[in-house]
Amino acid sequence: MNKRIKKAAVLGSGVMGSGIACHFANIGLEVLLLDILPPDLQEHEKTSPAARNRLVNKALEFAIKSKPAPLYDLAFASRIATGNFEDDLEKINDCDWIIEVVVENLDIKKSLFEKVDRLRKPGTFITSNTSGIPIHLMLEGRSTDFRRHFCGTHFFNPPRYLRLLEIIPTAETDPEMVHFFMEYGDLYLGKQTVLCKDTPAFIGNRIGVYAMAKIYQLTTQLGLSIEEVDALTGPPLGRPKTGTFRLGDLVGHDTAAKVIQGIKQNCPNDEQAGAFEVPAYLQFLLDNKFLGNKTGQGFFKKTSQKDEKGARLSWPSTSKRWNTNLPGSPTSPASRTPSRSTIPSAGSLPCLKPRIKGALWSASLWPGFSPTLPTAFRKSPTTCSALTTPCGQAMPGISARLNTGISSASKRGSRRRKPRETRWLPG
Ligand SMILES: NC(=O)c1ccc[n+]([C@@H]2O[C@H](COP(=O)([O-])OP(=O)(O)OC[C@H]3O[C@@H](n4cnc5c(N)ncnc54)[C@H](O)[C@@H]3O)[C@@H](O)[C@H]2O)c1
Repeated sequence: MNKRIKKAAVLGSGVMGSGIACHFANIGLEVLLLDILPPDLQEHEKTSPAARNRLVNKALEFAIKSKPAPLYDLAFASRIATGNFEDDLEKINDCDWIIEVVVENLDIKKSLFEKVDRLRKPGTFITSNTSGIPIHLMLEGRSTDFRRHFCGTHFFNPPRYLRLLEIIPTAETDPEMVHFFMEYGDLYLGKQTVLCKDTPAFIGNRIGVYAMAKIYQLTTQLGLSIEEVDALTGPPLGRPKTGTFRLGDLVGHDTAAKVIQGIKQNCPNDEQAGAFEVPAYLQFLLDNKFLGNKTGQGFFKKTSQKDEKGARLSWPSTSKRWNTNLPGSPTSPASRTPSRSTIPSAGSLPCLKPRIKGALWSASLWPGFSPTLPTAFRKSPTTCSALTTPCGQAMPGISARLNTGISSASKRGSRRRKPRETRWLPG
């Protein structure tokens, strides 16, 4: 497809929207970042553009200051113009790609798409960054041109650094558009693009959110503390050091809970359906708006104390309350058994397989935790065949090469080209 993306509109400036806008600016795109009017807008502020754009501007500023840095160079922020859905939505008219990144709520997304459908020029790509809402459900009432140019483009958090980009077409998506994004994500955005079926939560979250929900359950059942679980479910299992609870804080607990509930609703017959529950202690966070890093507090809260390198320390923000007040809450660090204190040493083994075994066996946690490992998950043929497109089996109109779920970049191996401004990113 002969298409060039020069300008992109990002609709929603929260955790993901701001991060995606920055990553687009990193690769040289002109970016339009829009969001809702501030809910606390006063009567006297209603004619002030600065006040009307307060929410989006604050969100972008918050993102730019966050670590790891979303912008390669702070000067690239000048490539991002901000605005709001009331005053500026018609500006999407000269954008080549519109990506929706608003709250994980189908009705809200659909109502935004209705307006976008009226304002976008025909042929403009329009995609959703939803974590788990089936993509085809967003098409109800949309024009033929919209349907043809619509698919899921699922970035992971933080968008500049996480390598995976899932491309999720519907049955109506133009195969040329799918082909375009598989290549564009790889060559220009510096991602590993993976073609997904439009199944609930696609591939990454279908596995990862299952692991998260199951680990939340096991935390209570096995009497573990949140620090122990994070120590165990980070590098010892070949995962990022955010582990499980810190990852929840990074993602945002409202979003994570919606994905858990979405999978539960859409996969009632899954063999692990019982895992997809929001535990009492997570509900406690939701009820108190302790949504994670975006509200300054979740399972952890940053303190004014600093470590020897000057980095701010964070502590479990609510563990005291859980330990004393909430039934089924994670336990305190004081309850660690000696065997569980061996987790960090097992976790330092260089090779992943013995590291995983060592960490889980030494902590006597293998029976509980092993089903959460992707390797174990892959043993379930029903779920996996339902999730991935079999190698070489063509989807109508899409080449067999793309159907392997492996992008051209990985096939080229070390010859993989990366965009100039993201070349140094961790692989
Ligand atoms: N947080 C993650 O790690 C992550 C990762 C991948 C995908 N996603 C997906 O990206 C999307 C955004 O998630 P997020 O984490 O950035 O959420 P967020 O809570 O940080 O941001 C939500 C955004 O939606 C806007 N919004 C709220 N109410 C609205 C309304 N009525 N109409 C229009 N906009 C409204 C907010 O102002 C905000 O900009 C969701 O679909 C989520 O599932 C999130």
